[in-house]
Amino acid sequence: QIKAFLFDLDGVIVDTAIYHYQAWKRLATELGFDISEEFNEGLKGVSRMDSLDLILAHGGLTLPDEEKAKLADQKNEWYLELVSRMTPEAILPGVAMFFSQVRQAGLKTALGSVSKNAPLILERIGMTDAFDTIIDGTKISKGKPDPEVFTKGADELGVRPDECVVFEDAVAGVEAGKRGGMFVVGLGSPDVLRQADLVAPSLAELTVDEVLSKSK
Ligand code: G6P
Ligand code: MG
Repeated sequence: QIKAFLFDLDGVIVDTAIYHYQAWKRLATELGFDISEEFNEGLKGVSRMDSLDLILAHGGLTLPDEEKAKLADQKNEWYLELVSRMTPEAILPGVAMFFSQVRQAGLKTALGSVSKNAPLILERIGMTDAFDTIIDGTKISKGKPDPEVFTKGADELGVRPDECVVFEDAVAGVEAGKRGGMFVVGLGSPDVLRQADLVAPSLAELTVDEVLSKSK
């Protein structure tokens, strides 16, 4: 029986995925190359340093650690500039309705994001209290596709992995949920999120009842 829903943040609750992409693209441009939207799919859900490593490899660059730390800081500065203007309007369509159904169904909720900025974003959109527990990038040692961020959430909620449904927009996040032994709802395109158990364009096209009946 499903007892908890675990949500990714970027691209599931709020439209920050686009800001991560814009900030990384700006960095790549400064380094003399470009990153496509298709390449960006592989960055979604991936930690800041792992993303930078993928981008540098894509541009054929090898840099010392101090230089990489500076670039990661620069990207985060640009990212924070973009999100500082964010308001509750940035909450994705369907989220409010879905969360009221989640509460009504008596399900527990966790946030499972590898972003170190997750608490700040939740604050900006006024959703800190929507979660029973928040697992963010400061609480884990391994990023997605490792399942740690979700298994930790399940542990804190006191539920087993097979009692959890994960909501994810990223290939790495879907893999993390599956590796954690959970039912995974992919939000996006079925062509991209091939490992997901169920795929919908966004939370706006789903009801809690539908998810519960399909994850049985
Ligand atoms: C999320 C996003 C990624 C981002 C990662 C780290 O998983 O989907 O695009 O790289 O968080 O975010 P941070 O805010 O810590 O740089
Ligand atoms: Mg995401």
